[in-house]
This record gives sequence, C-alpha cells and structure tokens, in this order.
Amino acid sequence: MDIYKSVAESQTTLTELMIPSYANFGGKIHGGIVMGLMDKVAYVCGAKHAGSYCVTASVDVIDFLAPVEVGELVSLHASVNYVGTSSMVIGIRVESQQPSQRVIKHTNTSYFTMVATDEDRKPLQVPGLLLKTQEEVRRFYEAYHRKELKKYYRSEESRVKSAFEINQSMEIIRNERCKIELTDQ
Ligand SMILES: CC(C)(COP(=O)(O)OP(=O)(O)OC[C@H]1O[C@@H](n2cnc3c(N)ncnc32)[C@H](O)[C@@H]1OP(=O)(O)O)[C@@H](O)C(=O)NCCC(=O)NCCS
Repeated sequence: MDIYKSVAESQTTLTELMIPSYANFGGKIHGGIVMGLMDKVAYVCGAKHAGSYCVTASVDVIDFLAPVEVGELVSLHASVNYVGTSSMVIGIRVESQQPSQRVIKHTNTSYFTMVATDEDRKPLQVPGLLLKTQEEVRRFYEAYHRKELKKYYRSEESRVKSAFEINQSMEIIRNERCKIELTDQ
C-alpha cells in the first residue's frame, strides 16, 4: 500500500546567527556559507519526509537577491515541493533580518533535489506527497514543470554539443564580448 505524508510533516526552518567569521573580504556574508546552510536544511527536510538517509543530487540556480550582513539572523524555510520515486524537490526560501528591526529581506530561493538512499547508497522509494492546499498543488505542479524543462535543456545541450562546428559557432558569438585569436589552427 502506498504511504503518503503531508508537506507540513517535514517542513523545516533553520535559523542561524551570522557571525564575523562567516564574512568575506567585503564584510558581507560569504555566499558559500548561505549555500552550505541551504544544503543542511534541504537534508533535514528530505530526511524527515523520506525517513531515511539522503544525498544531494542537484541544485537549481541560486540567485543572490540581497547581501547578508554580520549580526543578522538568517532563516531558511524548507518544504518538500515534489516527490518522484526516490527523489524529492525541496524548495528553500532564505530570509535575513537584523534582530533589532522588523524588516525581513528575501535573500535567496532555490530548489534542491535530494535522493533517499539505503545503507548501500542505492535509491530508496520515498512516501508520496499529500497536498492539502492550493499553494502546495501550485508548488508541486511548478516542480513537475521544471523537471520537464530540465529534460528539454539536457537534450538541447547534447544536441548543441554534438552539432558543434567551429566556423558557424564563431559567427554566432561574433557580437559577444570576446576576441578570437586562435593558436591551435
Ligand atoms: C543521486 C544518486 C544516489 C542517484 O543514483 P543513480 O544510481 O543515478 O540512481 P537513478 O538513476 O535510479 O536515480 C534515482 C533518482 O535520482 C534522480 N536523480 C539522479 N541524478 C539526478 C540529478 N542530477 N538531478 C536530479 N535528479 C537526479 C533520478 O531522477 C531518480 O529520481 P526518481 O527515483 O524520483 O525517479 C547518485 O548519483 C549519487 O550518489 N550521487 C552522488 C550524491 C552526492 O555525493 N551528493 C553530495 C553529497 S550528499
């Protein structure tokens, strides 16, 4: 019998204080710190849904929308948006706030694909997702759509790679900001 779990059962929020050692040379919080926290919260959320160990299979684009400052509290809100057989798409929204202020900055959003695995690191089936709100249906549908788009991008990428032709390619990139001085002709 198929088991379904609600989105709420695995929803996770991780809050961390941004300490000076997290800062880069410019005094802002290093992007890698935020990405590491995103991976951590994605793992917790995915492992809660799967009820097993899981690994990060892929990470979608991470746009940095606003810098994070030392002293801010960064909160990462994660929920399972979509499940396949062994994979789960975890949506993560990152927000940052000075403890003394009410303003909340939206700094990042991304989607991590986590895959549940057994002790031998073999993919393991995860519970289905019980969708209880229109928002949850929207997120599931959008993740499904992104998965289809990824398949399309991958096939386009391999088509472009296999169709590569040097003269035609140089013509296409002619107006880009590059200067071609071939040394291997
Ligand atoms: C992720 C991993 C377990 C997949 O194993 P695999 O033998 O390729 O298994 P499959 O091809 O059967 O894929 C299993 C699932 O992963 C998904 N998957 C695999 N690679 C993926 C990728 N790059 N992006 C998104 N999903 C991916 C598949 O779509 C499939 O989903 P489904 O079960 O819901 O249909 C394996 O590639 C792995 O261990 N990768 C290294 C993970 C890692 O070290 N991460 C960093 C540290 S945690």
